[in-house]
Amino acid sequence: MPESVAVSQIHFDFTNVLVEAVGPERGLALADLTACQAQCSAALSAVYSRRERDLCWLDLPYAHEVLDSILDYASSVSGRFKNVVVLGIGGSALGNTALQSALGSPFHNVQPPLGVARLFVLDNIDPDLVGEFLDQFDPTETLFNVISKSGGTAETMSQFLIFRARLVEVLGEEGHRDHIVVTTDETNGVLREIVNREGYESFVVPDGVGGRFSVLSPVGLLSSALVGIDVKGLLKGAAAMDKRCQNESLLENPALLYALVQYKLHEEKGMPIAVTFPYSHRLANMADWYAQLLGESIGKRLSKAGKEVFRGPTPVRAVGVTDQHSQVQLYVEGPFDKWFTLLTVGRGDHEVKIPRTPASFRDLEGVDYLGERSLGELFRAERDGTRIALTDAKRPNASIHFETITAHTVGQYIYMMELAVALMGELYDVNAFDQPGVEAGKVAAYALMGRAGFEDERARIEAAQGDESCAV
Ligand code: PA5
Repeated sequence: MPESVAVSQIHFDFTNVLVEAVGPERGLALADLTACQAQCSAALSAVYSRRERDLCWLDLPYAHEVLDSILDYASSVSGRFKNVVVLGIGGSALGNTALQSALGSPFHNVQPPLGVARLFVLDNIDPDLVGEFLDQFDPTETLFNVISKSGGTAETMSQFLIFRARLVEVLGEEGHRDHIVVTTDETNGVLREIVNREGYESFVVPDGVGGRFSVLSPVGLLSSALVGIDVKGLLKGAAAMDKRCQNESLLENPALLYALVQYKLHEEKGMPIAVTFPYSHRLANMADWYAQLLGESIGKRLSKAGKEVFRGPTPVRAVGVTDQHSQVQLYVEGPFDKWFTLLTVGRGDHEVKIPRTPASFRDLEGVDYLGERSLGELFRAERDGTRIALTDAKRPNASIHFETITAHTVGQYIYMMELAVALMGELYDVNAFDQPGVEAGKVAAYALMGRAGFEDERARIEAAQGDESCAV
């Protein structure tokens, strides 16, 4: 990869969230943003002050030894497996999918490069998904990466039991062990206990790295390395963004500015819906990854002081150009409750020419104007058209621009958004690093499954359900 490409910076362009672009009712005044410098500096120090204590994900770009051990493992199994399967959910799966689609071919699984495995991320326990996979996969050619930070998530553990049994059936107790590699906490959780008993190869989700902030740890890096993604470039990009964001000056720090724009458009301009709108097929799953990061981090009942606040923006994901024919009507003319972040790309890997219009169609202006142009031109014209339509309709919209999509620029984006969300936690005054709502659902499921220790919860649920259900 040429150096100039590897080091190109991503840019946060916020022109169209300002009053000059979308008017005073919906737009933000630059002076109002810069007036928040002190509040932003305080937010940045609050986050950085925890860097060595409990926000250890901030230092993942510098975990060189871990990276080396991942690369060593990947090269030790290189060419051995046709399939790598991630068993995980939420923060233990979304980043894996996002990295693979951003940095691999969209048709990787149809025709992987020679000697490189296909990647499947089974992030659901729908029996129609898991059962179909059970019917199709060949255990002798498959490596499972079981990922769970807590090491106890019911979805992941049930998948583990199912696929382990199939592996043992075909490969035997001893033989199956080489087909499982686990990523979990260093000491806690039942999955670590299983690793200790079975002697599986394993990697650690370090302390201070919560699920949705873990994509740059072995959680996201291992499966990526196994399918040939440039994980070193990813971490270098993240480190470059870290350096940029240590600058506390609001207008020089993309994460800080992004966090402030999100906060102000929501809390001061009444836009609770944050739409991430990649104009890039490859970045579509990055928007899913960000949706979890934002929703789970900022959607909270309690303020930091324990007061009920019911806060949080609603993340939505759309994809250009596909959603121009689905969502854009709503976005341009519907309620003023959304703001938009377009993910834009300067140069793709492919240029697809539209051929000269055949002579027999040349009198048809409705198709002739496309002849001898390119899909890239059309794609960019539609993207810019959407941006213009949103701006004309007074809908605040920003862009995060990738000159090209490389491991380096994707690493920058991931780090920028993780830091931005951590900073939002300060601005919204909520704990961005817990997920009591998710835990509540897990507890209810344990109770319904009859897990020991959850009998009281089961009784409470049954009493609340009563006998009558209301349905038509
Ligand atoms: O961000 C989070 O903490 C969650 O989304 C978790 O990633 C998810 O619940 C899976 O948890 P675990 O990795 O412990 O299996």
